[in-house]
Amino acid sequence: MMTAAQPGGRAASIPLMGHEVEPTMFELSVRGRSAAQLRTTGIAPRTLESMVPASHLNPEPLVTADLAERDLVGHVTRLSHRQFSVDLGAYPLGSCTMKYNPKFCDAVAADPGLASVHPGAPAAMVQGWLELLVTLEERLCAITGMAAATLQPAAGAAGELTGLLLMRAFHQANGDERRRVIIPDSSHGTNPASVTLGGYEVTTVPSNERGLVDLDALRAALGPDVAGIMLTNPNTIGLFEEQIVEIAEAVHDVGGLLYYDGANLNAILGVVRPGDMGFDIVHMNLHKTFATPHGGGGPGAGPVAVSSRLEQFLPGPRATRVDGRYEWMTPSASIGRVHGWHGNALVLARALAYIEVHGGAGLERVAQHAVLNANWLRRRLADTLPAAYDRPCMHECVLSATSVKSALGVRGLDIAKALLDEGFHAPTVYFPLIVDEALMFEPTETESPQTLEALAAAVESIVARAATDPESLHRAPTHTPVSRVDEARAARHLIATEDDAER
Ligand SMILES: Cc1ncc(COP(=O)(O)O)c(C=O)c1O
Repeated sequence: MMTAAQPGGRAASIPLMGHEVEPTMFELSVRGRSAAQLRTTGIAPRTLESMVPASHLNPEPLVTADLAERDLVGHVTRLSHRQFSVDLGAYPLGSCTMKYNPKFCDAVAADPGLASVHPGAPAAMVQGWLELLVTLEERLCAITGMAAATLQPAAGAAGELTGLLLMRAFHQANGDERRRVIIPDSSHGTNPASVTLGGYEVTTVPSNERGLVDLDALRAALGPDVAGIMLTNPNTIGLFEEQIVEIAEAVHDVGGLLYYDGANLNAILGVVRPGDMGFDIVHMNLHKTFATPHGGGGPGAGPVAVSSRLEQFLPGPRATRVDGRYEWMTPSASIGRVHGWHGNALVLARALAYIEVHGGAGLERVAQHAVLNANWLRRRLADTLPAAYDRPCMHECVLSATSVKSALGVRGLDIAKALLDEGFHAPTVYFPLIVDEALMFEPTETESPQTLEALAAAVESIVARAATDPESLHRAPTHTPVSRVDEARAARHLIATEDDAER
């Protein structure tokens, strides 16, 4: 591990490194301790039993973690110091777009004028919030080249399901029962899952030797029972689908719709628009592209924008401008709500703040820098870990550790884990599935040349160590609070509660 001071975003001094276990909240609990004390009001207390029928009360004693505020803050802060985070250092987790989120977005989301408003407040009382939502919808439509959008879906996968329900509503309104949705074999796992949840069957088309949709295979898979295709462009290999116009024509020719998985939108912001490529439905991951920290289940937002022929089916209510005032409106053939209230509203506020501060030219630079950084890293590491497809990429590059594995027995996973000891988050491993020993790096536009150089040097030093000390790499990481975990076991034997842990 390098100790000399270096410029750039290497997290060389993560606090509280070591292997001590942080107790759970329940283990820290002291019966009767509390984080809040209510003032005495002078009003006689009433028991729960006097207000709620016994049949509605839980006969089991409630298990709570009783903690003072000081203990709770200490616990949560210690836990946060044991995590790698986007604020700590570079986090090149491909496909996830873990970019640094500027702090002005936090200030916007914390504004009491936005944060303290009840979502059920009548429209007349919250004109400012509605104006914000309408403006965001307009901006997102301008960015994607679409006619209208719903801001309700809570994340990308929720947007996908919403999009598929819109696809279904469109075909049903035309009296057209279609069965299949096509996805490429490089697609993100949420795509086939959403197709199935949306009530359709998945047809997978293979990628060609250049990592793009095989147009002939697509044409062979198309037919009158195809409801549409789901694509992300650039695709999950970080490559731009060059034949997107031909793909759109072929799908439209059989009456199908094109769904754009916008998780990779930061690669094309302000440069090219899904609507102009021929897409009919677009979801955006605001938490990736427009500055909301995510991962670990944090709140997201996955607005879905559509072309005018699908507008009437959008979820409602939607904020709309009527004669200079703002109102809620539900479209005529709406598929209904896809979220309680109006979506994760403060994520929407952060996104609008990010868009307004950057402006059109600024957003274009975001995309340019994201693509430049990924290509710089791809070229810089070409002799160490070759790219799976040796040509310019977009915002992420998929490298392969096949040669290191066959020559030295060190896998992509070992290299990724060792990067944690070097002060970088690991890249995504073994995705997309069609690339052997895949290491998917997405440096994002927020990392500096110094950080990228430090990251590349760290990868080089790890691969060099594979020749001299492969054993140490099989054990990596060894300097983090938790060392190598058995990921398959962790996924298969879920311990969700304190009670399960005791069993
Ligand atoms: C290409 C792609 N599509 C969809 C998703 C799903 O988005 P979310 O995690 O917000 O549900 C992701 C998330 O990583 C993605 O990379």
